[in-house]
Amino acid sequence: MSFRRTLVLGTASVVGVATLILAPAPALAAQPPSAPASGQHDDSLRDLGAKSGLRIGTAVSPAGLADPEYRELIADQFSSVTAENEMKWETLEPVRGQYNWGPADRLVEFAKQNHQLVRGHVLLWQNQLPAWLTQGVADGSIDKDELREILKQHVYNTVGHFKGKIWHWDVVNEAFTDDWETGSAPSGVHPERFWVKHLGPEILSDVFRWAHDADPKAKLYYNDYAIEHIGQKSNALYEWTKQQLAAGVPIHGMGFQTHLSTEYGFPGGFQRNLQRFADLGLDVALTEVDIRTFVDSPETQEPLTPALQQQQEDYWRQTIEACLAVRECVSYTVWGVSDAQSWVPGWFQGMGSALLWDEHLQPKPQYFDVQEVLATTDAEHRTGWGAGRN
Ligand code: G3I
Repeated sequence: MSFRRTLVLGTASVVGVATLILAPAPALAAQPPSAPASGQHDDSLRDLGAKSGLRIGTAVSPAGLADPEYRELIADQFSSVTAENEMKWETLEPVRGQYNWGPADRLVEFAKQNHQLVRGHVLLWQNQLPAWLTQGVADGSIDKDELREILKQHVYNTVGHFKGKIWHWDVVNEAFTDDWETGSAPSGVHPERFWVKHLGPEILSDVFRWAHDADPKAKLYYNDYAIEHIGQKSNALYEWTKQQLAAGVPIHGMGFQTHLSTEYGFPGGFQRNLQRFADLGLDVALTEVDIRTFVDSPETQEPLTPALQQQQEDYWRQTIEACLAVRECVSYTVWGVSDAQSWVPGWFQGMGSALLWDEHLQPKPQYFDVQEVLATTDAEHRTGWGAGRN
């Protein structure tokens, strides 16, 4: 396909969660951005990923699919898609009892037409809940028993609606305390986040059980940020996951969101961390990859220096290499296509350039880096449902 594109997508949304992480970044010597290996590999990311049985995905805004160039790029380059917002509760059920399946259904249909698998996102999360629900809990008109029943119905309705059409569900999202929150206190399930606060930590296991009952063939994931490195949060999650599996809770995969920043060092021990979760018998996935940096202006989103550009490229290579090195890493999803529609500039002031295509939908050097790693890898072929095709 041609990459000569002039389209500028809509502006970024202001968002969500604080992404984070770890140690300060190592100082990098200034050097020019690496030259794109343009022309060396004409194959799309999805075709190159298929050589290793790795699904390459992206978050998609169904509204954006109205644009032919955006549609074409997503169809050409990706073998799985995630709804960036349209399977979240506030979109699915804005008015109690009235489901709005249209936007998500359109994405599922698009995926079918283009032989793509769908990652469902998300069943239990404290963000983007409908106002009728959060207000009802706040004013006491929804009590604990009713809240549990509402959640159960939501899981059965949603998973049931898409039954047979979803490859992976992100069942529980962002339930653990972050490293910097814990201090000397033990890390673990965050006691103050909406669902655990109101229904207790066992609700996390219940949601996995309900989702499995509603669609026994879907692979069920726990999904979180700042668990890429080996640290307090990932250690606590690892212990929790072991306990859940021992208790027979149907968890099939671990989703590492991978929202990285050049402000911080590359997550220490990423590959080993993926492998230890895989060794529990899980599939693993990089579910929301983006790598932000400081930019010269919100309009152009050029990295501030060549050194930052180089650091981003190094990080992109390391993320895809870590995934490829672990055979159970079955899916690598980037959190959007173009810098013009990324959530990053709206949330992190002065930062951006977090994706593989620029704001004009032109591929950036990091696109060619990922392409080259996929083209030249001798990684073991992935197995299981969804692997091995493009
Ligand atoms: O739909 C409304 C629109 O009606 C309204 O006019 C407009 C005005 O602000 O807002 C629109 O909603 C926005 C929504 O995205 C859809 O575009 C929200 O403001 C905005 O906050 C929301 O942001 C999303 C964010 O999750 C919310 O937490 C981002 O697009 C989305 O990329 C982001 O994705 C999350 C993952 O689900 C979980 N992991 C972290 C990741 C990044 O925060």
